[in-house]
Amino acid sequence: MAPRRNSPARQIPWYQNLWEHNAVGIAVSVCILIWLLYPTKTGAYAHAYAQQQPIIDCGPDGPVKSVAIIGAGSAGASAAYYLNKFKNPCDKVNITVFERSSYVGGRSTTVNVYDDPAEPVELGASIFVEVNKNLVSAAREFSLITTSRQSKELPGTLGVYDGLYWKFISSESSWWTTAKILWKYGLAPIRTQNLMKQTTGKFFKMYEEPYFPFRDLSQTAYDLGLTEATAATGEEFLLKNGIQSPFSTDIIQASTRVNYAQNLNKIHGLESLVCMATDGAMQVQGGNWQIFDGMLKASCARVFLNTSVTSITRQSNGTYAVDALSSNSAIQPSSYDTVILAAPLQYADLTLDPAPLNPPPEIPYVNLHVTLFTSACALNPQLFGLNSNEKVPTTILTTISDSQPVHPGFFSISTLRTLTNPKTGEKEYLYKIFSPEPLKIEFLEGILLPSPDEDRITWKYEKVWQSYPYLPPRVTFEDIQLDKEGKVWYTSGIESFISTMETSSLMGMNVARLIVDGWAGEEESQWEEVTGEEIPRTVKAAEEL
Ligand SMILES: Cc1cc2nc3c(=O)[nH]c(=O)nc-3n(C[C@H](O)[C@H](O)[C@H](O)COP(=O)(O)OP(=O)(O)OC[C@H]3O[C@@H](n4cnc5c(N)ncnc54)[C@H](O)[C@@H]3O)c2cc1C
Ligand SMILES: *[C@@H]1O[C@H](CO)[C@@H](O)[C@H](O)[C@H]1NC(C)=O
Ligand SMILES: *[C@@H]1O[C@H](CO)[C@@H](O)[C@H](O)[C@H]1NC(C)=O
Ligand SMILES: *[C@@H]1O[C@H](CO)[C@@H](O)[C@H](O)[C@H]1NC(C)=O
Repeated sequence: MAPRRNSPARQIPWYQNLWEHNAVGIAVSVCILIWLLYPTKTGAYAHAYAQQQPIIDCGPDGPVKSVAIIGAGSAGASAAYYLNKFKNPCDKVNITVFERSSYVGGRSTTVNVYDDPAEPVELGASIFVEVNKNLVSAAREFSLITTSRQSKELPGTLGVYDGLYWKFISSESSWWTTAKILWKYGLAPIRTQNLMKQTTGKFFKMYEEPYFPFRDLSQTAYDLGLTEATAATGEEFLLKNGIQSPFSTDIIQASTRVNYAQNLNKIHGLESLVCMATDGAMQVQGGNWQIFDGMLKASCARVFLNTSVTSITRQSNGTYAVDALSSNSAIQPSSYDTVILAAPLQYADLTLDPAPLNPPPEIPYVNLHVTLFTSACALNPQLFGLNSNEKVPTTILTTISDSQPVHPGFFSISTLRTLTNPKTGEKEYLYKIFSPEPLKIEFLEGILLPSPDEDRITWKYEKVWQSYPYLPPRVTFEDIQLDKEGKVWYTSGIESFISTMETSSLMGMNVARLIVDGWAGEEESQWEEVTGEEIPRTVKAAEEL
């Protein structure tokens, strides 16, 4: 975690606090605006797990430990990567990753605008932030280039629209935006920022001893005081901390809606605050999936794409058979000592035999419609209640108010960048819309300025995701270990706590640590059985790496 200079315990006048934020390039404390207005400086992270392995005499070869991972998204790729990192240098570990789709990355993937590989755009998870340790350090390790989200050619304005009125519109000048925010919301932005830092500060302890690795997410959340935030709705939790409407409904809810398609009276307090942690927002040029691809390559895992696992079955000798449907003939039935299910069980479409001790229940996920399209036409200001000479904000977020029965019909409309249509040579805009329902062509054409062209929409791509769970308040989370023996592991329970690429990666890393610790325990007991002695020094030293 980056050192935090600002703590609520330090009694400083609010204006000084404000200045300090501005001095480091933050337009007041409303971080949601930051990634739209500022280029990103990638945080410098020391390598948490720098490898420096002394030469160790491993003695005679032990058995190969074979691990099957189901899912090549953030969680599965991270599990493979950290298994390889954490393992005792003498351990021979054979990792096999099964992935149902034809690509690595899961919910983090790109599509090519105009079907041109030179113009990828994120279709799923698009943003991570500088405090996302695992993603940031992996991106650095694999020399991936990160950029701030906003393209430089477009003025970075953001507006919050409720279907009839604009609740907030930022200015192209950050100072003016700051003044506007202060004028309208007073201290609420600063209170929010402080509460967010306090809460995320607790969360970052999950990466460190004594909390890491954690066997029981519910217990760890409780021990860290995070259950307080997950037990209440965002609205309740914010109110309890002195943050109310209109800041909560105009700004924080706009953020929970664009990030999780949920309103503040439904989504829990922890996820609401995570939405406000946007300092140093970035994405990997060419696609965030490259982080997970890099992790898999670094782990030396065998990766089978286009391969759906249909069952995981415990055999009489304690190993697991993993059955899969695949077009790939290189896959031979084989047995594994350890299995990691790195995908939501309810969508994995596989059977577990024996059934898990506490089967993860089916939980409702958001069906999010993502529509990407290009057009030479700008957005039509009059459709959004603006004068014809006004510009529509490049990012339109939405909110709903109690007094306001109109629903905007979408969560966000972003003008991502400008590009050149290869067919016409014309400059066009790339738009992305998140909505709860599929968007009719009339809607898309309706939001654009009229033009004599027949087809104002030159390229379009639509996808429905089961993007993240609905996140109502809760205090318990699904088990990480599905069996008594510690051979079958599950990463997706963390999604009801916080659903992001980074948290899936954290869970993959956590499971890897628990598995490697389990192996060390087994070896220790084997040594004691054979020799009646304590485990030799060299092996111990290696374990402590
Ligand atoms: C539109 C959208 C926007 C988002 N925005 C952000 C964002 O800005 N920032 C952020 O951090 N997060 C964002 N998220 C959330 C983020 O994508 C997820 O939290 C994260 O990627 C989950 O990773 P995972 O590895 O746990 O699961 P997944 O990425 O879903 O990976 C699971 C993998 O398992 C595979 N699989 C499932 N069953 C089987 C089987 N039987 N056999 C073989 N393979 C199987 C699947 O094909 C999939 O590839 C967004 C998500 C969506 C959809
Ligand atoms: C890993 O397992 C596969 C399949 O069982 C096998 O083909 C391969 O040789 C193994 N690799 C090692 C290093 O044991
Ligand atoms: C997976 O399937 C897709 C579509 O059927 C195909 O284009 C691709 O080549 C396959 N990939 C592998 C590695 O088999
Ligand atoms: C365990 O049993 C399976 C199926 O009977 C067999 O294929 C596998 O080789 C056995 N593994 C060990 C380590 O004995």
